[in-house]
Amino acid sequence: MKAAICTRYGPPEVLKIVEREAPTPKDDEVLIWVFASSVTNSDLFIRGCDIPLRFQIPMRIMLGITKPRNEIIGEVLAGEIVQVGPKIRKFKVGDRVFGLTGFSLGAYAEYKCMKEKASKRGGIVMMPRNVSFEDATSAAYGGLLAFQFLEKGDILPGQNVLIYGASSTSGTIAVQYAKHIGAIVTGVCSTDKIELVRSLGVDKVIDYTRADAVSKLESYDFALDAVGKARSSAVKDACRAGMKDKRKFASIDDGALVLDSDRLDRVRELVESGAIRPVTDRCFPLDRIVEAHRYVEEGRKKGNVAITVQTE
Ligand SMILES: NC(=O)c1ccc[n+]([C@@H]2O[C@H](COP(=O)([O-])OP(=O)(O)OC[C@H]3O[C@@H](n4cnc5c(N)ncnc54)[C@H](OP(=O)(O)O)[C@@H]3O)[C@@H](O)[C@H]2O)c1
Repeated sequence: MKAAICTRYGPPEVLKIVEREAPTPKDDEVLIWVFASSVTNSDLFIRGCDIPLRFQIPMRIMLGITKPRNEIIGEVLAGEIVQVGPKIRKFKVGDRVFGLTGFSLGAYAEYKCMKEKASKRGGIVMMPRNVSFEDATSAAYGGLLAFQFLEKGDILPGQNVLIYGASSTSGTIAVQYAKHIGAIVTGVCSTDKIELVRSLGVDKVIDYTRADAVSKLESYDFALDAVGKARSSAVKDACRAGMKDKRKFASIDDGALVLDSDRLDRVRELVESGAIRPVTDRCFPLDRIVEAHRYVEEGRKKGNVAITVQTE
């Protein structure tokens, strides 16, 4: 099978396209024919090991000392089940699934084995029937992140909610999920993302690059920072400082992403009902994985960047 491997921790160029033997599923695994993956921020962290020094040792112990133990990286996938082990109950050959591979990685390849029960080593569920494999990967990654951290707000219909970083993969889905719940949603983004964020159904937009942005802030019942702690602005700082109850300002970086099948099923339902439209900025073929990593590293994408591993 064709796969993208990470030869050592480093810049995008450490990724190489190679041929590898396809994996064989164990009794409690399914074999997935992978059609699409994504380039996520987690993939960038893993490939570059570009994290503060104090986290490098635990990360390298967990993932591999000089390069990831699983040389095939990639955390998100959508594809079709082509083989099932005898202990598999939930899935059958031909089922189309989407999900995350967790610590087991391995999504940048034409085949990947996964267990049916979600754990830190990944989780899959049936994928939405109405979207492409590429959009399904955007929904899986952005949806799991957005749902998990938005749930912290216990948002009620009619409440005033702010999504900071509304143009990120998780932000685009957080906006739509909050609207689905019935909140009045303000999205914060830069000038060239305003049109996209409006198209997601926000009630108000704040352009964080404008000098008067802070003056546009109101009082919010809940605010979600969907770009993470590494990126900020005067608007984010002022919003957090202005929250009466500090617990009502959550960041997408407040704790680890949980690979919860029930939550992923809810993402699927809302995508199928049309309440949530995954946003895919660009799709790169697997052969152009280096270019895809360079593009995501710029930090300016609109929604998600998908990888087409193979076409139907
Ligand atoms: N908790 C976990 O386990 C976990 C797992 C994975 C990821 N994460 C976190 O989730 C974050 C978001 O990932 P993602 O892929 O959804 O984001 P992303 O797509 O990489 O975010 C990029 C978007 O953010 C906007 N942006 C950049 N700087 C900004 C700023 N200062 N203020 C507001 N918007 C800004 C960019 O547009 P403009 O530049 O035009 O504004 C772009 O549209 C990651 O960075 C990571 O911190 C957490």
